Amino acid sequence: MKKQCILVTGGAGFIGSHTCIALHEAGYKVIIVDNFSNSHRDVLSRLNQILNTDIIFYEGDVRDQIFLAKIFKNHAIHAVIHFAGFKAVGESVKKPLDYYDNNILSMICLLRVMKEARVYILIFSSSATVYGDPKWLPIKEDSERYTTSPYGRSKLFIEHLLEDLYHAEPHWNIALLRYFNPVGAHDSGLIGELPNDVPNNLMPFVQQVAKGLQPYLSVFGNDYDTRDGTGIRDYIHVMDLAEGHVSALNYYQTNHGLLTVNLGTGQGTSVLDLVNTFEKINNCKVQYKIVERRSGDIAACWADVSFAERALAWRAKRDLAKMCEDAWRWECARTSLRV
Ligand code: WQD
Repeated sequence: MKKQCILVTGGAGFIGSHTCIALHEAGYKVIIVDNFSNSHRDVLSRLNQILNTDIIFYEGDVRDQIFLAKIFKNHAIHAVIHFAGFKAVGESVKKPLDYYDNNILSMICLLRVMKEARVYILIFSSSATVYGDPKWLPIKEDSERYTTSPYGRSKLFIEHLLEDLYHAEPHWNIALLRYFNPVGAHDSGLIGELPNDVPNNLMPFVQQVAKGLQPYLSVFGNDYDTRDGTGIRDYIHVMDLAEGHVSALNYYQTNHGLLTVNLGTGQGTSVLDLVNTFEKINNCKVQYKIVERRSGDIAACWADVSFAERALAWRAKRDLAKMCEDAWRWECARTSLRV
């Protein structure tokens, strides 16, 4: 049977590249679009090495409608998974115009080209950041949405845009996948998270402290109302997240409509839980200091994943130990590959 062709925008990025692996392994044909504004070109050769194939790749900006339309003319695209976008909360506060321009105009351009090509299956990379500081835990998909950063607002705006489009044109099949905290790496050690400079997020920073690239981890506050006073999050292995995208695509083989799903593990992990697990699993030391809270941080956030299990027959399989093991393997490989 001819393989269904999936266009992956931002496919050279952290979650996009891992999703390309899961798609290929599930029997889909992958086409990547990326402009390397937040990813590295050599991820493509590593993906080909892992998959023993030559993934079709187009370098360009999703906001370039003519460039994008050519791809839909050259290939019978079955569905699109849209990752391309900026995603750093702190940076978005300093550069709101760049974030709204890149994230929102890319979405609008992609939708216009998809409509012109009569391709109506879209999987959108959303984020738990749309929940802001949740009143109840675990967080369900119908929890209140509000956000406090331009990055979060760009994601929330796109969710509203897609909901409006679906209500106006119900022949669309649109999945809003809300990621919790993606961490870890493919177990080949060939691809993983590539922070542009000093990491903002916890796991890549822990990796760099363990490797001696940073002197210590600043733990942003231990006076939260949590079991050990440090922030709690729902960390999910990036390959579990990737497989969640395949499950969402498979959902549309027999279903139709607008789907909103939390992709997390349903487990809350504190900063110190993660540090301790990382040290134990990898037999290493992660020096840390307790410092002031980071402004904008929330105390706790973890997902109710019951709907994902029911609707997608999907649940995260990899535990925190596996996340820490794979993250460490990638950090050791990354520094030797000098990427
Ligand atoms: C996790 C915990 C920090 C760094 C971010 C984005 C969000 C989403 C997921 C895209 C918190 C603590 C962190 C450090 C620390 N990305 N921490 N020292 O803030 O939950 O969410 O990633 O959608 O949009 O904002 O993740 O990894 O930055 O923080 O103590 O050096 O680790 O306070 O409790 P966060 P994070």
